[in-house]
Amino acid sequence: MRIFHLSAECYPVAKVGGLADVVGALPKYQVLAGLQAAVVLPYYDRKFTQQHEFDIVFQGLTLLGDRRLYFEILKEKTNVLGFELFLVRIPGLLDRQEVYCYPDETDQFIAYQIAFLDWINWSGQTPDIIHCHDHHSGLVPFLMQNSNSYKRLANIPTVFTIHNGQYHGSFSWEKLNYLPELDLTKTGLLDWAGGLNPLAAAVKCCARYTTVSPSYLNELTIQSNGLEYLFYIEGHKGQGILNGIDTEVWNPAADAMIAGKYNTTRAAAGKKKNKEALCTRFGLSPELPLITFIGRLVGEKGADLLAAAFERSLYEHPGKVNFLMLGAGDKDMELALAALKDKFPDNYAVFIGYDEALAHLIYAGADFLLMPSRVEPCGLNQMYSLRYGTLPMVRSTGGLKDTVIDFGDEGGYGIRFNNASVDDICYSIGRALELYQNTPHLLQLRKRMMSLDFSWDRSAKEYKNLYDQLTASV
Ligand code: ADP
Ligand code: GLC
Repeated sequence: MRIFHLSAECYPVAKVGGLADVVGALPKYQVLAGLQAAVVLPYYDRKFTQQHEFDIVFQGLTLLGDRRLYFEILKEKTNVLGFELFLVRIPGLLDRQEVYCYPDETDQFIAYQIAFLDWINWSGQTPDIIHCHDHHSGLVPFLMQNSNSYKRLANIPTVFTIHNGQYHGSFSWEKLNYLPELDLTKTGLLDWAGGLNPLAAAVKCCARYTTVSPSYLNELTIQSNGLEYLFYIEGHKGQGILNGIDTEVWNPAADAMIAGKYNTTRAAAGKKKNKEALCTRFGLSPELPLITFIGRLVGEKGADLLAAAFERSLYEHPGKVNFLMLGAGDKDMELALAALKDKFPDNYAVFIGYDEALAHLIYAGADFLLMPSRVEPCGLNQMYSLRYGTLPMVRSTGGLKDTVIDFGDEGGYGIRFNNASVDDICYSIGRALELYQNTPHLLQLRKRMMSLDFSWDRSAKEYKNLYDQLTASV
């Protein structure tokens, strides 16, 4: 079975968040399971593309409105990632460093999708499934069915996975003429609440949509930035499939980015070594419990609550706890979090920026990892932290609810709280500090969490079942 995954991110080629981790791992496990999975990304001028060799497998000319665009499809030569990687390169549009945030981002992603469809159409390819991820490839299911240019592709089933329903990629109707030769009676499928909305179009036109956790499937009907009713009426097409984690990349027993490797039986000594390395680097005492946060500094992640919660906790438990922050994003949040360092130099440290290796060291060396998310479609951090024996403290939402059981409940191993509020975070910090005093209990929970299995095998099977159903009904 031939599958094309379309995504804006894929680890290690281009990563901003968890989307990259998923698209860098799922196809690898699909290939191991016997599927012919490939990833098609926009081209980025980054380390990975500079350091690997590519063949040009296709060249074409296409139109974006009245702009004529030359594009080429590059294929990584050695399948070093465990699957075929194709890049869509368009000089001047898709050959830049960053993944997001260019003022002409809409043009970039429309061009990416059109070039992909032109390529497979003109080169006569008929994949069994086209699997789109998030709004950056949300126009593909619509175009395959409603553009006269792609009639040959109309019967290929499309799966659309929603990693984040808050972002829709909406743009103005003025750019309708950027889309190739449409059946104009069908343009209503692009519309939501008066705007041209790629996420909504994908949900309407795909054969099936999936969310990255079962709980998030239901939550989309309650909070999806205006698409709640759409998810309510299209709910029959939805399925929640929990993400897995790449247990080769995230493995404390073989992780080259941490200070000391360890497995479940040698976790105490291994974690101690990593904690010491981390604390030495940031000038913190390794004797105190270490509570950390890793992530994008945005409201969705509850990052606006962190500075106030850390400050209050440091006053409530003076000299009893250390906090370490790794993140980047909203400038006000960055400033508030950086400013705390001057107030609490001995018990608080912060790294504003993106650092993959530091993230690994934190998962390995911390005692607790805090995730006060307002919205969390799946969340990978808590699964990495469980694998590294670091107790997750999570707000009960989305995938956090599906992966973390409170240690007060039967079989539990984490800390859960209900509200994304400073009060709830501080209360949970109090519980964490109390637990830290009870070493045998903490070690028992660590053993339990490290033996959990969040590998891709189970989720990859669920996707395979879904593909089988869809291809059987074509
Ligand atoms: P999201 O995709 O919403 O950001 P996830 O929990 O799915 O959240 O995935 C986040 C991924 O990004 C994890 O691999 C996490 O370790 C990584 N990450 C987030 N922020 C940083 C950062 N500042 N430095 C290094 N890694 C980060
Ligand atoms: C999104 C979500 C996150 C999820 C990730 C991978 O970025 O915010 O919760 O884990 O996608 O699916």
